[in-house]
Amino acid sequence: MTLKRKDKITQTSYRRFHRLRSSNVLRDTLADVRLHRENFILPLFLRKGTGLRTEIPLMPGVYQQTSDIAIAQISELADKGLGSIILFGILESKDTNGSGAYDPQGPVPEGIRAIKEVFGDAIQIYADVCLCEYTSHGHCGILTKEGKIDNDASLPPLAETARVYAEAGADWVAPSNMMDGRVSSIRELLDEEGYKHIPILSYSAKFSSNYYGPFREAAESAPSHGDRKSYQIDFRSWRTPLREMREDELQGADALMVKPALAYLDILARAKQQTDLPLYAYNVSGEYSMVKFGAAQGLFDEHKLVLENLTSIKRAGADMILSYHTADVLAEDWI
Ligand code: PBG
Ligand code: ZN
Repeated sequence: MTLKRKDKITQTSYRRFHRLRSSNVLRDTLADVRLHRENFILPLFLRKGTGLRTEIPLMPGVYQQTSDIAIAQISELADKGLGSIILFGILESKDTNGSGAYDPQGPVPEGIRAIKEVFGDAIQIYADVCLCEYTSHGHCGILTKEGKIDNDASLPPLAETARVYAEAGADWVAPSNMMDGRVSSIRELLDEEGYKHIPILSYSAKFSSNYYGPFREAAESAPSHGDRKSYQIDFRSWRTPLREMREDELQGADALMVKPALAYLDILARAKQQTDLPLYAYNVSGEYSMVKFGAAQGLFDEHKLVLENLTSIKRAGADMILSYHTADVLAEDWI
Protein backbone atom coordinates (compact mmCIF):
# COMPACT_ATOMS: atom_id res chain seq x y z
CA MET A 1 0.00 0.00 0.00
CA THR A 2 1.35 3.36 -0.88
CA LEU A 3 1.02 6.37 1.34
CA LYS A 4 -0.60 9.08 -0.63
CA ARG A 5 -0.26 12.74 0.19
CA LYS A 6 2.64 12.15 2.60
CA ASP A 7 3.00 15.87 3.25
CA LYS A 8 -0.44 15.99 4.85
CA ILE A 9 0.58 13.33 7.39
CA THR A 10 3.92 14.66 8.53
CA GLN A 11 3.16 18.31 8.38
CA THR A 12 -0.14 19.93 9.28
CA SER A 13 -0.97 23.15 7.57
CA TYR A 14 -2.17 24.82 10.74
CA ARG A 15 -1.46 24.80 14.51
CA ARG A 16 -3.84 23.28 17.04
CA PHE A 17 -4.21 25.90 19.78
CA HIS A 18 -7.11 24.04 21.32
CA ARG A 19 -4.67 21.43 22.63
CA LEU A 20 -3.31 23.91 25.12
CA ARG A 21 -6.66 24.94 26.53
CA SER A 22 -8.55 21.72 26.74
CA SER A 23 -9.07 21.66 30.49
CA ASN A 24 -9.30 23.93 33.48
CA VAL A 25 -6.06 22.66 34.94
CA LEU A 26 -4.21 23.19 31.69
CA ARG A 27 -5.59 26.70 31.29
CA ASP A 28 -4.65 27.51 34.87
CA THR A 29 -1.14 26.16 34.44
CA LEU A 30 -0.47 28.04 31.24
CA ALA A 31 -2.05 31.41 32.06
CA ASP A 32 0.38 34.28 31.53
CA VAL A 33 -1.03 36.43 34.32
CA ARG A 34 -2.83 35.65 37.52
CA LEU A 35 -4.38 38.06 39.98
CA HIS A 36 -3.10 37.86 43.52
CA ARG A 37 -4.73 39.28 46.62
CA GLU A 38 -1.62 41.40 47.21
CA ASN A 39 -2.22 43.20 43.91
CA PHE A 40 -5.21 45.13 45.23
CA ILE A 41 -5.61 48.51 46.89
CA LEU A 42 -8.99 49.34 48.36
CA PRO A 43 -10.02 53.02 48.15
CA LEU A 44 -11.84 54.33 51.23
CA PHE A 45 -13.73 57.59 51.78
CA LEU A 46 -13.33 58.81 55.33
CA ARG A 47 -15.39 61.24 57.34
CA LYS A 48 -14.68 62.49 60.83
CA GLY A 49 -16.63 61.15 63.78
CA THR A 50 -17.84 57.70 64.74
CA GLY A 51 -20.53 55.27 63.77
CA LEU A 52 -21.41 56.77 60.40
CA ARG A 53 -21.73 54.89 57.15
CA THR A 54 -23.56 56.10 54.06
CA GLU A 55 -23.65 54.21 50.81
CA ILE A 56 -22.83 56.26 47.73
CA PRO A 57 -25.88 55.96 45.45
CA LEU A 58 -23.87 55.98 42.22
CA MET A 59 -21.38 53.43 43.59
CA PRO A 60 -23.30 50.53 45.15
CA GLY A 61 -21.14 48.80 47.79
CA VAL A 62 -18.94 51.88 48.37
CA TYR A 63 -19.41 54.05 51.43
CA GLN A 64 -18.53 57.32 53.04
CA GLN A 65 -17.65 56.19 56.53
CA THR A 66 -15.97 57.09 59.78
CA SER A 67 -12.67 55.45 60.63
CA ASP A 68 -14.14 53.09 63.27
CA ILE A 69 -16.44 51.56 60.64
CA ALA A 70 -13.63 51.52 58.10
CA ILE A 71 -11.50 49.61 60.61
CA ALA A 72 -14.19 46.95 60.89
CA GLN A 73 -14.28 46.61 57.10
CA ILE A 74 -10.48 46.50 56.84
CA SER A 75 -10.38 43.82 59.57
CA GLU A 76 -12.69 41.54 57.66
CA LEU A 77 -10.80 42.03 54.43
CA ALA A 78 -7.37 41.76 56.05
CA ASP A 79 -8.36 38.21 57.03
CA LYS A 80 -9.00 37.66 53.33
CA GLY A 81 -5.61 38.97 52.23
CA LEU A 82 -6.14 42.71 51.89
CA GLY A 83 -2.76 44.42 52.25
CA SER A 84 -3.29 47.97 50.98
CA ILE A 85 -5.78 50.81 51.20
CA ILE A 86 -5.87 54.36 49.82
CA LEU A 87 -7.60 57.09 51.78
CA PHE A 88 -9.68 60.05 50.61
CA GLY A 89 -11.12 62.58 53.02
CA ILE A 90 -14.54 64.19 53.06
CA LEU A 91 -14.93 67.50 54.78
CA GLU A 92 -18.00 69.45 55.90
CA SER A 93 -16.44 72.90 55.75
CA LYS A 94 -14.14 73.83 52.90
CA ASP A 95 -12.27 77.01 52.01
CA THR A 96 -10.73 78.48 48.87
CA ASN A 97 -7.22 77.37 49.89
CA GLY A 98 -8.20 73.82 50.75
CA SER A 99 -6.52 74.20 54.12
CA GLY A 100 -8.48 71.25 55.49
CA ALA A 101 -6.19 69.02 53.43
CA TYR A 102 -3.28 69.65 55.79
CA ASP A 103 -5.23 69.90 59.03
CA PRO A 104 -3.61 67.28 61.31
CA GLN A 105 -7.07 66.70 62.84
CA GLY A 106 -8.69 66.17 59.42
CA PRO A 107 -10.40 62.91 58.45
CA VAL A 108 -7.36 61.45 56.70
CA PRO A 109 -4.64 62.05 59.35
CA GLU A 110 -7.08 60.90 62.05
CA GLY A 111 -7.98 57.86 60.01
CA ILE A 112 -4.33 57.03 59.37
CA ARG A 113 -3.52 57.13 63.08
CA ALA A 114 -6.54 55.02 64.01
CA ILE A 115 -5.93 52.43 61.29
CA LYS A 116 -2.18 52.21 62.01
CA GLU A 117 -2.88 51.66 65.69
CA VAL A 118 -4.95 48.59 64.89
CA PHE A 119 -3.08 47.10 61.95
CA GLY A 120 0.51 48.38 62.16
CA ASP A 121 2.56 47.12 59.25
CA ALA A 122 -0.06 44.59 58.18
CA ILE A 123 -1.83 47.26 56.11
CA GLN A 124 -0.03 49.64 53.77
CA ILE A 125 -1.75 53.00 53.89
CA TYR A 126 -1.58 55.19 50.80
CA ALA A 127 -2.76 58.76 51.36
CA ASP A 128 -4.10 60.57 48.31
CA VAL A 129 -2.62 64.07 48.14
CA CYS A 130 -4.93 66.58 46.49
CA LEU A 131 -6.88 69.68 47.36
CA CYS A 132 -10.12 69.03 45.46
CA GLU A 133 -11.89 67.38 48.39
CA TYR A 134 -11.00 70.38 50.54
CA THR A 135 -11.42 73.46 48.34
CA SER A 136 -14.75 75.27 48.17
CA HIS A 137 -14.35 75.49 44.36
CA GLY A 138 -13.48 71.81 43.99
CA HIS A 139 -10.31 72.29 41.94
CA CYS A 140 -7.17 70.31 42.73
CA GLY A 141 -5.03 73.35 43.56
CA ILE A 142 -5.05 77.03 44.42
CA LEU A 143 -6.76 79.42 41.98
CA THR A 144 -5.63 82.82 40.71
CA LYS A 145 -7.96 85.81 41.03
CA GLU A 146 -9.12 85.01 37.51
CA GLY A 147 -10.12 81.52 38.58
CA LYS A 148 -7.30 79.68 36.79
CA ILE A 149 -5.09 77.08 38.44
CA ASP A 150 -2.03 78.65 40.02
CA ASN A 151 0.41 75.76 39.65
CA ASP A 152 3.28 77.15 41.70
CA ALA A 153 1.11 78.47 44.51
CA SER A 154 -0.42 75.01 44.79
CA LEU A 155 2.87 73.22 45.45
CA PRO A 156 3.53 74.32 49.07
CA PRO A 157 0.08 73.36 50.42
CA LEU A 158 0.28 70.05 48.56
CA ALA A 159 3.73 69.31 49.98
CA GLU A 160 2.49 70.27 53.44
CA THR A 161 -0.46 67.90 52.99
CA ALA A 162 1.94 65.08 52.17
CA ARG A 163 4.03 65.94 55.23
CA VAL A 164 0.98 65.87 57.51
CA TYR A 165 0.00 62.45 56.17
CA ALA A 166 3.54 61.14 56.62
CA GLU A 167 3.58 62.50 60.15
CA ALA A 168 0.28 60.74 60.88
CA GLY A 169 1.87 57.46 59.78
CA ALA A 170 0.98 57.00 56.10
CA ASP A 171 3.22 54.45 54.39
CA TRP A 172 2.89 56.16 51.01
CA VAL A 173 1.84 59.55 49.75
CA ALA A 174 0.06 59.57 46.42
CA PRO A 175 -0.22 62.98 44.75
CA SER A 176 -3.17 62.94 42.33
CA ASN A 177 -3.36 66.68 41.78
CA MET A 178 -1.45 66.86 38.45
CA MET A 179 0.43 70.05 39.37
CA ASP A 180 3.78 70.30 37.56
CA GLY A 181 6.61 69.78 40.03
CA ARG A 182 4.49 68.04 42.66
CA VAL A 183 6.81 65.09 43.06
CA SER A 184 10.01 67.06 43.58
CA SER A 185 8.40 69.57 45.94
CA ILE A 186 6.91 66.78 48.04
CA ARG A 187 10.17 64.81 47.98
CA GLU A 188 12.12 67.85 49.10
CA LEU A 189 9.84 68.62 52.04
CA LEU A 190 9.58 65.00 53.16
CA ASP A 191 13.36 64.66 53.07
CA GLU A 192 13.87 67.84 55.09
CA GLU A 193 11.32 66.82 57.68
CA GLY A 194 12.67 63.37 58.38
CA TYR A 195 10.50 61.34 56.01
CA LYS A 196 13.18 60.19 53.59
CA HIS A 197 11.83 56.67 53.92
CA ILE A 198 8.31 57.49 52.71
CA PRO A 199 7.77 56.56 49.05
CA ILE A 200 5.80 58.63 46.55
CA LEU A 201 3.26 57.05 44.21
CA SER A 202 2.63 59.66 41.55
CA TYR A 203 -0.58 59.73 39.56
CA SER A 204 1.61 60.49 36.55
CA ALA A 205 -0.62 59.64 33.64
CA LYS A 206 -3.89 60.99 34.93
CA PHE A 207 -6.31 61.82 32.19
CA SER A 208 -9.11 64.34 32.21
CA SER A 209 -11.75 61.66 32.14
CA ASN A 210 -15.50 61.31 32.11
CA TYR A 211 -15.10 58.16 34.17
CA TYR A 212 -14.56 60.15 37.38
CA GLY A 213 -18.21 61.21 37.70
CA PRO A 214 -19.28 58.85 40.52
CA PHE A 215 -16.09 59.56 42.51
CA ARG A 216 -16.88 63.25 42.51
CA GLU A 217 -20.21 62.42 44.08
CA ALA A 218 -18.48 60.13 46.60
CA ALA A 219 -15.79 62.64 47.51
CA GLU A 220 -18.02 65.68 47.06
CA SER A 221 -15.26 67.11 44.90
CA ALA A 222 -16.85 68.17 41.62
CA PRO A 223 -15.43 71.51 40.42
CA SER A 224 -17.97 74.29 40.91
CA HIS A 225 -16.87 75.98 37.69
CA GLY A 226 -14.93 74.88 34.63
CA ASP A 227 -13.22 71.52 34.32
CA ARG A 228 -9.81 69.98 34.98
CA LYS A 229 -8.61 70.04 31.37
CA SER A 230 -5.86 72.58 31.99
CA TYR A 231 -4.06 70.25 34.39
CA GLN A 232 -5.22 66.70 33.69
CA ILE A 233 -4.08 65.02 30.46
CA ASP A 234 -6.11 65.21 27.24
CA PHE A 235 -7.40 61.76 26.35
CA ARG A 236 -6.28 62.14 22.74
CA SER A 237 -2.64 62.02 23.87
CA TRP A 238 -0.34 59.07 24.28
CA ARG A 239 3.07 60.77 24.10
CA THR A 240 2.39 63.34 26.83
CA PRO A 241 1.52 60.75 29.49
CA LEU A 242 4.73 58.85 28.70
CA ARG A 243 6.70 62.08 29.01
CA GLU A 244 5.04 62.97 32.29
CA MET A 245 5.89 59.54 33.61
CA ARG A 246 9.56 60.00 32.70
CA GLU A 247 9.46 63.40 34.36
CA ASP A 248 7.99 62.03 37.60
CA GLU A 249 10.64 59.34 37.60
CA LEU A 250 13.32 62.05 37.32
CA GLN A 251 11.69 64.03 40.11
CA GLY A 252 12.01 61.00 42.37
CA ALA A 253 8.72 59.15 42.19
CA ASP A 254 8.98 55.60 43.55
CA ALA A 255 6.01 54.29 41.60
CA LEU A 256 3.85 55.55 38.74
CA MET A 257 0.17 55.38 38.03
CA VAL A 258 -2.05 55.31 34.97
CA LYS A 259 -5.61 56.49 35.51
CA PRO A 260 -8.26 55.51 34.47
CA ALA A 261 -7.33 51.93 33.66
CA LEU A 262 -9.66 50.19 31.21
CA ALA A 263 -9.92 52.82 28.50
CA TYR A 264 -6.16 53.43 28.85
CA LEU A 265 -4.64 49.95 28.63
CA ASP A 266 -2.53 51.13 25.69
CA ILE A 267 -0.91 53.72 27.96
CA LEU A 268 -0.25 51.07 30.61
CA ALA A 269 1.31 48.73 28.08
CA ARG A 270 3.53 51.47 26.68
CA ALA A 271 4.46 52.67 30.16
CA LYS A 272 5.54 49.15 31.04
CA GLN A 273 8.02 49.23 28.16
CA GLN A 274 9.43 52.53 29.30
CA THR A 275 9.84 52.23 33.07
CA ASP A 276 11.27 49.79 35.58
CA LEU A 277 9.33 51.40 38.41
CA PRO A 278 6.31 49.64 39.86
CA LEU A 279 3.27 50.50 37.80
CA TYR A 280 -0.13 51.10 39.34
CA ALA A 281 -3.48 51.41 37.58
CA TYR A 282 -6.62 53.03 38.94
CA ASN A 283 -9.77 51.19 37.98
CA VAL A 284 -11.86 54.30 38.58
CA SER A 285 -15.36 54.98 39.81
CA GLY A 286 -17.08 55.14 36.43
CA GLU A 287 -15.54 51.83 35.40
CA TYR A 288 -16.81 50.32 38.63
CA SER A 289 -20.30 51.77 38.42
CA MET A 290 -20.82 50.65 34.82
CA VAL A 291 -20.09 47.08 35.87
CA LYS A 292 -22.28 47.30 38.98
CA PHE A 293 -25.27 48.81 37.23
CA GLY A 294 -24.83 46.62 34.18
CA ALA A 295 -24.71 43.48 36.29
CA ALA A 296 -27.75 44.61 38.27
CA GLN A 297 -29.60 44.92 34.94
CA GLY A 298 -28.61 41.40 34.02
CA LEU A 299 -26.20 42.41 31.25
CA PHE A 300 -23.51 40.07 32.52
CA ASP A 301 -22.26 38.01 35.42
CA GLU A 302 -20.56 40.48 37.76
CA HIS A 303 -18.01 38.07 39.18
CA LYS A 304 -16.81 36.95 35.75
CA LEU A 305 -16.78 40.42 34.23
CA VAL A 306 -14.84 41.89 37.15
CA LEU A 307 -12.17 39.20 36.89
CA GLU A 308 -11.88 39.77 33.15
CA ASN A 309 -11.48 43.52 33.62
CA LEU A 310 -8.99 43.25 36.46
CA THR A 311 -6.96 40.56 34.74
CA SER A 312 -6.79 42.69 31.61
CA ILE A 313 -5.42 45.59 33.64
CA LYS A 314 -2.71 43.36 35.04
CA ARG A 315 -1.99 41.82 31.63
CA ALA A 316 -1.47 45.29 30.19
CA GLY A 317 1.27 45.89 32.73
CA ALA A 318 -0.11 46.93 36.11
CA ASP A 319 1.70 45.58 39.16
CA MET A 320 -0.92 47.00 41.49
CA ILE A 321 -4.58 47.83 40.92
CA LEU A 322 -6.62 50.38 42.82
CA SER A 323 -10.19 49.19 42.56
CA TYR A 324 -13.53 49.52 44.31
CA HIS A 325 -14.09 45.86 43.35
CA THR A 326 -11.37 44.88 45.85
CA ALA A 327 -13.91 44.33 48.63
CA ASP A 328 -15.99 41.88 46.54
CA VAL A 329 -12.97 40.15 45.02
CA LEU A 330 -11.49 39.38 48.43
CA ALA A 331 -14.60 38.90 50.55
CA GLU A 332 -16.24 36.59 48.03
CA ASP A 333 -13.06 34.64 47.29
CA TRP A 334 -13.21 35.41 43.58
CA ILE A 335 -9.48 34.73 43.37
C1 PBG B 1 -8.80 64.04 42.10
C2 PBG B 1 -9.14 62.60 42.04
C3 PBG B 1 -9.94 62.01 41.09
C4 PBG B 1 -10.06 60.68 41.42
C5 PBG B 1 -9.30 60.46 42.55
N1 PBG B 1 -8.74 61.67 42.93
C6 PBG B 1 -10.47 62.49 39.82
C7 PBG B 1 -11.04 63.80 39.64
O1 PBG B 1 -12.04 64.15 40.31
O2 PBG B 1 -10.50 64.53 38.82
C8 PBG B 1 -10.90 59.72 40.64
C9 PBG B 1 -11.11 58.41 41.20
C10 PBG B 1 -12.25 57.70 40.66
O3 PBG B 1 -12.98 58.15 39.74
O4 PBG B 1 -12.48 56.60 41.16
N2 PBG B 1 -7.66 64.35 42.77
ZN1 ZN C 1 -7.99 66.55 42.95
